[in-house]
Amino acid sequence: MPNLSQVGPYIVHGKLLNKPIYFAQRELTKEPVVLKKNNPTICEDDHPNPNLTSKRVLEHEKRIMGMLDHPNICQYLGYIGDQSAPDSPDFLILPDKGRYTLRDIPPMQQIPAVGAAIAQVSAAMVHAHERGIVHRDLKPDNLVIGREGVTIIDWGGAYRRSFSNDWGATMGILTPGTPGYMGPEQVVNPSQPGARTRPEFANDTFGLSATAYFLFTGKEAFLRCRDDIYFALPRSRDGLRHYGGFGEVIIAGLEPNPKKRPTMKQLTFEAERHFGREPRFENLEGRVNPVHPVETDTTELLEQTAIMLDRKFE
Ligand SMILES: Nc1ncnc2c1ncn2[C@@H]1O[C@H](COP(=O)(O)OP(=O)(O)OP(=O)(O)O)[C@@H](O)[C@H]1O
Ligand SMILES: [Mg+2]
Repeated sequence: MPNLSQVGPYIVHGKLLNKPIYFAQRELTKEPVVLKKNNPTICEDDHPNPNLTSKRVLEHEKRIMGMLDHPNICQYLGYIGDQSAPDSPDFLILPDKGRYTLRDIPPMQQIPAVGAAIAQVSAAMVHAHERGIVHRDLKPDNLVIGREGVTIIDWGGAYRRSFSNDWGATMGILTPGTPGYMGPEQVVNPSQPGARTRPEFANDTFGLSATAYFLFTGKEAFLRCRDDIYFALPRSRDGLRHYGGFGEVIIAGLEPNPKKRPTMKQLTFEAERHFGREPRFENLEGRVNPVHPVETDTTELLEQTAIMLDRKFE
């Protein structure tokens, strides 16, 4: 149940299950937005001040988005919060980019469309890398699809290579990154908690290559033994060999040694050469599963959500 009905000028009508993500509309203009609340559960268990830290991470996400300007990178519309009141929630206001992510596409469907989606994402990541920003958590769930194409979201764990104190922004939170989508160099060594290698652009090559692997084969690129150990058992790469130079670049993108991975520019070049730039999302939208259950308060609110969704996908 969304325990919120209004945040500033935004009327809340739904919530993602198990996540502090709210769907809302601006009262006057009806503009659809997503409200992302600071999330204290991203902090390690023994963290002394999870609320304040999660507010700082949300602000960091806003700051990173403010440094980027690309059609496939999420922008923010505003921020509602008060750093001087540590217990009150903060909200990042985002444009609603669609109800589905690349995780929701049925395996092996619409390969040209997902190939072109990878081309869009890698071109957007070239933009971010040129500005010194490493995302660190590229994965299908952080790529929203809608009529305008793919949007890269979730920049809270991003790292600016020219700011040595960016460590501060993410210290004390659980490892930024997701098992199965992080290169071995990104995984925190359990015997040395807190010791991390400096984030590098090749982290994102790995994340996007693992994403492409999942989209093209319908399987995760690595079998996981435990949540934090995933690279022991890579799956067969044979399925990717049909895609020529693009397949090769994705296989190389999953190299354990970051120095052996291609750059985002190389990945973009091969993806565009093989698939072009324009995903045909009209087809895709009809085929994806609505996997994000939206919690709502009343039947009336449910109906409103349905009406909104219909409009979005009409
Ligand atoms: N601008 C947006 N438009 C549409 N959906 C969004 C948007 N931002 C977030 N979402 C939805 O909310 C989900 C969670 O958002 P996000 O990844 O930013 O938060 P998170 O809590 O950091 O996620 P996680 O820790 O699981 O990676 C996304 O997977 C997506 O389904
Ligand atoms: Mg996410």
